[in-house]
Amino acid sequence: MKPVPKLKSCPVKLPVLSGPSQVLLLFGLAFAIPIFAVERWNAPESAAQAKNPVTSSSDNIAKGRKLYSDRCADCHGKKGGGDGGGGADLERKPTDLTATSVQTQSDGVLFWKISEGRRPMPAYGRKLSEEQRWQVIHFLRSLPPRNKP
Ligand code: HEC
Repeated sequence: MKPVPKLKSCPVKLPVLSGPSQVLLLFGLAFAIPIFAVERWNAPESAAQAKNPVTSSSDNIAKGRKLYSDRCADCHGKKGGGDGGGGADLERKPTDLTATSVQTQSDGVLFWKISEGRRPMPAYGRKLSEEQRWQVIHFLRSLPPRNKP
């Protein structure tokens, strides 16, 4: 019998993924996507420095409260706890605005976030005047802290 000629191994490795590595890749994506989804929301440094030009008077806090209950409470809850009825079925839960993690952010950062929005949080840069956005922030500062992280 003639001996079977030895096959030369192919010197070029094709970058085609075979079965097991495809499965691994899919697993990797499945984990990576939720990580992107909870990416931190950071304001640019220049925005963070902005000071609230509106005085924190009872009048401005009252105006902020009114704006808040008209525009924000539906999602963020009457008392800012993130428990508004309109937020229940959103793909991302509205933030508890009384939480330390929010209250420790500067007025400038909050102003930027309220102005820019981030889905499903609407952008209020055109819906509210600058003065109104600062008034809402004074109202947020007046919310009783609930000692949450
Ligand atoms: C449609 C529901 C909805 C409405 C209305 C809404 N928000 Fe939000 N808000 C959200 C959601 C959801 C997030 C979380 C967004 C994220 O983390 O990507 C959020 C985040 C925020 C944050 C950032 C908190 C943080 O993590 O730093 C602030 C501040 C805020 N909202 C204030 C307001 C104010 C003030 C109003 C009204 C002028 C308002 N929101 C109206 C849904 C809403």
